[in-house]
Amino acid sequence: MRLSQCHNFHDFRKLAKRRLPSPIFNYIDGAADDEVTYNRNTASFEDCDLLPNVLAGVENIDMSVTVMGQKLDMPFYCSPTALQRLFHHDGERAVAAAAEKFGTMFGVSSLGTVSLKEVRQKHKNPQVYQFYFHKDRGLNKAMMDSAKEAGVEVMMLTVDSITGGNRERDLRTGFSIPFRLTLGGMFQFAIKPMWGINYVTHEGFKLPQLDDHVDMSGGALSIGRYFTEMLDPSMTWDDVAEMVKLWDGQFCLKGLMSVEDAKKAVDIGCTGIILSNHGGRQLDGSRSPFDQLAEIVDAVGDKIDVIMDSGVQRGTHVIKALSLGAKAVGGGRFYLFPLAAAGQPGVERALGLMREEIRRGMQLMGCKSVAELSRKNLKFR
Ligand code: FNR
Ligand code: LAC
Repeated sequence: MRLSQCHNFHDFRKLAKRRLPSPIFNYIDGAADDEVTYNRNTASFEDCDLLPNVLAGVENIDMSVTVMGQKLDMPFYCSPTALQRLFHHDGERAVAAAAEKFGTMFGVSSLGTVSLKEVRQKHKNPQVYQFYFHKDRGLNKAMMDSAKEAGVEVMMLTVDSITGGNRERDLRTGFSIPFRLTLGGMFQFAIKPMWGINYVTHEGFKLPQLDDHVDMSGGALSIGRYFTEMLDPSMTWDDVAEMVKLWDGQFCLKGLMSVEDAKKAVDIGCTGIILSNHGGRQLDGSRSPFDQLAEIVDAVGDKIDVIMDSGVQRGTHVIKALSLGAKAVGGGRFYLFPLAAAGQPGVERALGLMREEIRRGMQLMGCKSVAELSRKNLKFR
């Protein structure tokens, strides 16, 4: 299977599975507990149908949006994800460059493998810095300072990962960073030699956002241990209010789900909220962002930019979320499988397919601009 034969999410996933050692594929593909929430995320879009209007003169479609002060040429952006150079040796560099070609936003994770400064200097499109709140307050301050100094446009604090989700696939494969290879793990890497050759012949693995402050040489650190040992479970709204003040710019919370919390985010001066369950990787059994979207938009949509991610695989999913009132929509695995499958050309192909699906969907809906999408175009079953 070649890149030109990838026409949707499932094709890219298949190709990524073929290219990646199984512990890495399962780290991306997996989710928490029974993966019920993971499956529900995409299924939730099927509980409502699009109701098109016709003959609306739709030769030109404007799908641009403005979210948290950033103008995006398309309403879909790349949510921040960890460890991208494990998936393909170009990692964040490939994702940032592809996002720039499509005039959209991308995120760099606290657990990113390329420095946020490097990609900020190289590209013009808006960049989000995804922040995890560490026990080490010195580290938090240093991370915020370097993001500010680099000129990152949006600070995004993830709030759904106060402790690690129970990712049983990772427990089974022993996935950890740097690798702690079990015999079984070694076999999985040995049968994907191309991945191994690329990995060892490119720049060594680093976590530049953390490296100055965390000693990763003392053995393997699993994602679960990172969350549990390094992140601060005592974090409260007061801590975040202080961060919002300190940042003094576009600041959003990622992984918030309740109306009550959405109102608190408005009260402390956030400019955006991202409804997200981390792609089902944290609290299994939690509600899908699409199911919760209307309630949140009704409560705070006139005061703060409401955004969502988790489960998005199609242009019509984006159109449904925008019709309910989301200002933009993010995706993780949607671009990670293409990254793993083919690097920057893979991400570009995926974003190109997404843009085409949104354009075609809007034309078939009879909507020339995102502002014309409304709840009148949706019917719940
Ligand atoms: C993530 N996600 C994530 N979120 C975050 O705030 N910081 C991070 O470092 C990561 N890392 C990460 C790694 C991998 C492999 C995945 C799949 C996801 C969550 C991500 O930003 C987003 O919320 C989800 O990916 C959305 O769900 P979908 O689009 O993957 O279904
Ligand atoms: C994950 C992290 C790192 O979901 O957010 O694996």
